[in-house]
Amino acid sequence: MTIFQCRLVDLPGSADNRGRLAFVEPPHTIPFEIRRVYYLFGIPSGKERGAHGHRDLEQLMIAVSGSFTVTLDDGKERKTFQMSRPDQGLYIRKMIWRDLKNFSEDAVCLVLASERYSEDDYFRSYEDFYREARP
Ligand code: TYD
Repeated sequence: MTIFQCRLVDLPGSADNRGRLAFVEPPHTIPFEIRRVYYLFGIPSGKERGAHGHRDLEQLMIAVSGSFTVTLDDGKERKTFQMSRPDQGLYIRKMIWRDLKNFSEDAVCLVLASERYSEDDYFRSYEDFYREARP
């Protein structure tokens, strides 16, 4: 996988004088079934999250509140995305390293994931990730 296969997805939704709504409905918005939902919140100023890769997991990451940056790395190239729109999701493929930082105080990072939690799916060391991503 390469970072060029990861992309920002505009989420469908509705808007009227009562406010806005966005939704994610596989397989139209994302090509995987959602098996888990989690979210990061209450992140102290200056703290960073992520710093790992996944063997098989795919994710859609949404800044449902506030803002943060996500840097994706496929072992060769890197790209940073500024996340601040609740009507956009970042589709992250398998075998991609991610670093999340610059969280605003009100940031909530919602993640829709293709698999249930499994520590075995993680690369916690960049060296291990790099070895498999770029043999
Ligand atoms: P981790 O994936 O390292 O968080 P981040 O992506 O923000 O850096 O997870 C932090 C801790 O939470 C770790 O001990 C594993 C646990 N965890 C679960 O038990 N279930 C989950 O679905 C997730 C995402 C994490």
